[in-house]
Amino acid sequence: MLIELNKAVKRYNSGEMEVRALDGISLQIEQNCFVAVLGPSGCGKSTLLNILAGYEKLDEGEYRFAGQKVEDDHLLRNRVAMIFQDHQLLEYLSVRENLLLPSLYRRQRVEPARLKQVSRQLGIEGLWKRMPSQLSGGEKQRCGIARALLYDCRLILADEPTGSLDRANGQALMAIFAQLHSEGCSIIMVTHDRQLAERCQRIIRMEDGHVIAQ
Ligand SMILES: Nc1ncnc2c1ncn2[C@@H]1O[C@H](COP(=O)(O)OP(=O)(O)OP(=O)(O)O)[C@@H](O)[C@H]1O
Ligand SMILES: [Mg+2]
Repeated sequence: MLIELNKAVKRYNSGEMEVRALDGISLQIEQNCFVAVLGPSGCGKSTLLNILAGYEKLDEGEYRFAGQKVEDDHLLRNRVAMIFQDHQLLEYLSVRENLLLPSLYRRQRVEPARLKQVSRQLGIEGLWKRMPSQLSGGEKQRCGIARALLYDCRLILADEPTGSLDRANGQALMAIFAQLHSEGCSIIMVTHDRQLAERCQRIIRMEDGHVIAQ
């Protein structure tokens, strides 16, 4: 198994209220999966991805990645890449600098040819010198996708990656995902688009912090 969650609980305290964003989720996801995660707004999809990426810790339960218990993000840093729902581009860095930033903490060099190839695939090669504030929503999203795909990883976590994309760009991204999947990469994609979800191998439905069907 690539991923095993056992009775995973994640709580947030917002003022007086406690939210159980993940309310005891048990889940197994196999190697080389292509999974869609569906569910209404606020049901815990982004929380699930943040846990799987190691950006946040469970309050209760257990997370195993490739058989190993995840205690911190050390195990995951070079194995997982995240495409964020809100892009997470740093405002004071250019697009090119944003794309190359993960090479520092991943300690992975990006070959110039690779930077060019991924940028061309996503149609952002003309945007390298721009600042994020000078980009459209879809351009930001494509930059966030490129930043994730530049680096070698075993698992791509994609949080509504086509949310701000037009149809052509959405189809282009799905073609890239299909290629990566055929090369052995695992992909977990949150989406509200049923047609895209149906192109995945498996659909996980969430509601209110629970997995209701898989
Ligand atoms: N940092 C936080 N502090 C407090 N509550 C939070 C925090 N992050 C998320 N939540 C709450 O946890 C629940 C799950 O949020 P999450 O972002 O995982 O939902 P989602 O399924 O990704 O929704 P959407 O489709 O709108 O992106 C929501 O009720 C949300 O308000
Ligand atoms: Mg979300």
